[in-house]
Amino acid sequence: MGENAITLFLASIGPHGSLGFMILIVTLARLGWAWINRKQRPPHTPGLGGRLARFVHITFYGLLMWLPAFAILRQYGRGGALRFYGMELLPEAERDITWMIAPAELLHGPLSWLLCGLVIGHIMMALTHRFWLKDRVLARMVGSSGR
Ligand code: HEM
Ligand code: HEM
Repeated sequence: MGENAITLFLASIGPHGSLGFMILIVTLARLGWAWINRKQRPPHTPGLGGRLARFVHITFYGLLMWLPAFAILRQYGRGGALRFYGMELLPEAERDITWMIAPAELLHGPLSWLLCGLVIGHIMMALTHRFWLKDRVLARMVGSSGR
């Protein structure tokens, strides 16, 4: 898309690498938490809608791990420094390892935009549940009053 109001705004949230790293950490923590609570998870709606929701949620987890993990691998492979909010985790080095760089080079951009599209669809579905289907799916996500 190049530089425009939207991409400049998105670039201002960050720093990009540190925030991405943080997303990887909280996604892993969230997955661990979900695993511990696997016996008391809310059920998905039966039918095609429920299966689709499940598929999109799993895709979220996949993308939220793949994007930062392969970006970090690319950063390592090309010898870039890895910083986490001012802390230097890896210094710059002389490296150029093609197989580490290739996956993120090919897919980091497109998959990020896929994530962005899915998030917009996800928020629209949450609002559809609340205002059209009038069920408690959004309520149970935002507060204990929904339980
Ligand atoms: C959930 C985590 C992440 C998301 C959603 C994300 C998203 C994005 C987006 C939307 C772009 C712009 C793509 C375009 O120009 O079309 C981008 C570019 C970039 N990101 Fe990330 N990013 C994440 C994590 C990271 C991490 C952890 C690093 C570094 C360690 C990183 C390094 C880069 C670099 C170097 C670019 C510019 C080159 C490229 O487009 O591939 N990203 N990212
Ligand atoms: C305004 C923003 C958002 C709203 C209102 C919202 C709402 C919801 C709702 C209602 C659910 C279903 C909860 C249930 O079944 O009890 C859900 C689940 C989920 N959302 Fe969101 N969401 C938002 C943003 C996001 C974003 C930005 C992401 C990721 C990038 C995301 C990822 C997920 C995932 C992975 C699940 C499944 C959780 C699980 O069952 O383990 N959501 N969200």
